[in-house]
Amino acid sequence: MENLIITELDNDILVAKLNRPTKLNALNRAVIGKLGEVIDKVRGDDEIKALIITGEGDKAFAAGADIAEFQDYPKEEAMLMAQRGHDIFKRIETSPKPVIAAVHGFCLGGGCELAMAAHMRIATNDAKFGLPEVSLGIHPGYGGTQRLPQLVGKSKAFEMILTGDMMNAQDALRIGLVNHVVSFDELMPKCKEILQNITSKAPLAVAEIIKLINMSYSSENGFEQEVESFGNCFETEDFKEGVDAFLAKRKPDFSGQ
Ligand code: COA
Repeated sequence: MENLIITELDNDILVAKLNRPTKLNALNRAVIGKLGEVIDKVRGDDEIKALIITGEGDKAFAAGADIAEFQDYPKEEAMLMAQRGHDIFKRIETSPKPVIAAVHGFCLGGGCELAMAAHMRIATNDAKFGLPEVSLGIHPGYGGTQRLPQLVGKSKAFEMILTGDMMNAQDALRIGLVNHVVSFDELMPKCKEILQNITSKAPLAVAEIIKLINMSYSSENGFEQEVESFGNCFETEDFKEGVDAFLAKRKPDFSGQ
């Protein structure tokens, strides 16, 4: 079977690389499952002190959930997909050990939501961020409607999620979506430098800080409603039109049904 996530331990930092480069590392069901295994390993293994999540290939961190896979999902399946993603991304966000997303190229949809579940994001100059789900007739379903406003404020979150437009790395830095922008060669060294700094500190204090900062942003109702609304979108004609148009490489023609 394809190695969907490549992991490598560098001293005490685990590097996990999404590995579907020909599909721009789109997050299918199997990749999401593997991500769950990776974060459980990080949380449970005393040898691992921190995690970097990144993407294989030179084009993408991840260009979203796998559209081809979910195109025929009924509402219930869509809700399960969103709930499963929520559970795994929440385990990343609440990891007592620091997690950084090392982002290059496209970081869209579920890919951007994954990066947002990490504690920090370091991006290369060529990184492009966006939540383009609205162009498919749906909305973010892996926590994006909740985490984006937490990170960048309501105004920019409305703009990004309602337009679906992409944003370059410098703009993402300006609005606080990413912590630092570096060259491709500097990406891993920068992530490791930050993590080595954090892991040199007291682990119990680090874990408490992560817990406390997350507590200041918890809004469980929003996450629950996102799952319900995501499922509802899958019952619309516009969702079918949006996905058909993407797969046929044409512009969608939405009817409002
Ligand atoms: N799901 C499934 N497949 C995807 C994908 C996704 N989210 N994103 C890209 N791919 C696939 C493409 O279908 C294509 O497969 P093919 O070679 O078998 O046709 C391959 O990855 C390369 O993508 P392509 O679209 O040819 O690259 P591009 O450089 O022309 O465009 C993007 C790049 C990111 C602009 C474009 O792929 C895109 O819009 N992707 C979808 C983004 C999205 O809507 N994400 C949210 C999903 S909820």
